[in-house]
Formats: sequence, C-alpha cells, structure tokens
Amino acid sequence: MTAPQDAASPGQALAWALALGRDRLGDVDDPMRDARLLLAHAAGLERGQLTRLDVADFTPEMITAYLALIDQRAAGRPVSKILGYRDFWKYRFAVSEEVLDPRPDTETLVEVALAQPFGRVLDLGTGSGCILLSLLAEQAQASGLGTDLSEAALNVARQNAGALGVQARAEFVISDWFAAITGPFDLIVSNPPYIALHEMPGLAREVRAHDPRMALTDEGDGLAAYRAIVVKAGQYLRPGGRILLEIGPTQGAEVARFLSDAGFDEVEILPDLDGRDRVVGAIWPL
Ligand SMILES: C[S@@+](CC[C@H](N)C(=O)[O-])C[C@H]1O[C@@H](n2cnc3c(N)ncnc32)[C@H](O)[C@@H]1O
Repeated sequence: MTAPQDAASPGQALAWALALGRDRLGDVDDPMRDARLLLAHAAGLERGQLTRLDVADFTPEMITAYLALIDQRAAGRPVSKILGYRDFWKYRFAVSEEVLDPRPDTETLVEVALAQPFGRVLDLGTGSGCILLSLLAEQAQASGLGTDLSEAALNVARQNAGALGVQARAEFVISDWFAAITGPFDLIVSNPPYIALHEMPGLAREVRAHDPRMALTDEGDGLAAYRAIVVKAGQYLRPGGRILLEIGPTQGAEVARFLSDAGFDEVEILPDLDGRDRVVGAIWPL
C-alpha cells in the first residue's frame, strides 16, 4: 500500500487512507462507509466530496485528525456523535450525548404528519427537535411547542431551530409530558421512550452507551409513556385534531386500544418503509 506522500495520484492516496481506516475500525457494521465519512470530516469536506482531495491534502495533521476519529468509532462511538450532526428528513440536526440520535424510522411520523395541514403542533419528548423542526420547516404557516424532561436536550433543539431558521415559530419548555403545557393544538406528535426494561440488555452496546437512557426506556413494560400521553391528549387537542405516536413494531395493537379507550376516533396503525408497524394515529372527535 502506497503511503500518501509517495502516492502517484490522489486516487492512490485516498485508497491508502480509506484502507488504513477500514482496517483499524475492525468489526463495525460498514467500516468503509464510516472511514469515508470520517475522512471527509477530517478534511473539512462533505461526504461525496472525497474525490476533491489532492495528494498534498493528505498532510500528517489531517491523517492524525482522521485516525483520532477512527479510534473513537472503533471504541463504539456512533458516527453521528463523532461528527456532531445527523441528517434527518431534509435537514441537518446537531446532536450531542444528551439527545437521542434521530433514526430514519422516525421519518415515517414526519411524512404522515405532513399529509394533512396543521397550524399549531405539540411535540412531546422533542430531544434534538428533529420531528417538530422538520414539520415547521415544511409548513411555513405552522408554529409549535417542543417539550422534554431534559434541559440539555432542549438546548440542542433550540440550536437546531436557529440553524433551520424556524426559531420564531418554535418554543421549547421543560415538561413531564403535559404537566407544563397549555393547549389547544391541531396536532400532537411524539416518539416517546418505548423500549421495555427487559429489552435493554439486547440493544446494541453503542445505543446503550451513547443514547440517553431516559430517551430509550420507561424502565417498565415500554408502554408507560403512551398511557400517560393518551389519557390526557384529548384535553389538549382541538375538536378534529390529530395525534400521531411512533411505536415499536410490536406495540401497535395496545397503543391503538389505549386511544380507542380514551375516546379517539379513526384509530389506525401505519407501517414504515420496511413494512413494520411504526405509527399509530387517531382523531379527537368533533
Ligand atoms: C425516543 S426519544 C425521542 C427524541 C426525538 N423526538 C426523536 O424522535 O429523535 C424520547 C424523548 O422523550 C424525553 N422524555 C422522556 N420522558 C419524558 C417525560 N416524562 N416527559 C417529557 N419528555 C420525556 C426524552 O428525554 C427523549 O428526549
């Protein structure tokens, strides 16, 4: 393998750097993809721009910075937490150790929400703000409120609201679900912690180590947040308003029953792109 300073071409230098990173990454899921992302970051480029690198760009400082990122990844830190951002829906969200790393599955909830108009939206457990802020960025007339129990998470969400230019339409408050909230809303969305306590040991080590525990589990059967939210949601919705809840793939029937028992109409369970149950939606009666 040609070392970068001896490389005959930028392609050779790039191949050297990527192979070095891949080999140090060991058994992560897709070492070549991660090596590409981390090399681009070390070089100050976007992913997909690596072919812009010239032989002279592979300085010892750049390679040292790259290998420091590779070592973090090899130790189990997720790429998003190393880079400090995650691309979600159409936007880039800052993330830190204080917020859940936004998941592609959650884009289903955003897509379903955007299928109907809304004016005022409440996002319970907003984390990075990825759901609320994607909705506000898409619906220029809408405004909304994001809540969380974590002030550190709300600060990340505020930063993201500014970066997306929707801060004038987005408010954030500390609240235990509805405790500090005044309605009414046209739409309530939530991706609450839904991993049951007994499922926690089965999660990937990097999820357990790098997503806040409070964002993952209710320390019980995984349904406590749905019970707490559904029983009060009707008081905070306008007649005809909607609720959309992200669920784990096995929770649809129970969450749908909670909604029916609480008096909601038109309860439906919707799949994600992989065909797994992902969102339960319902309407508060007129
Ligand atoms: C699964 S994460 C979702 C974060 C973000 N909405 C997303 O989809 O990426 C759940 C969020 O709910 C928050 N949370 C947990 N318990 C809460 C409670 N009792 N009241 C409000 N938020 C809570 C957590 O801090 C976390 O940010």
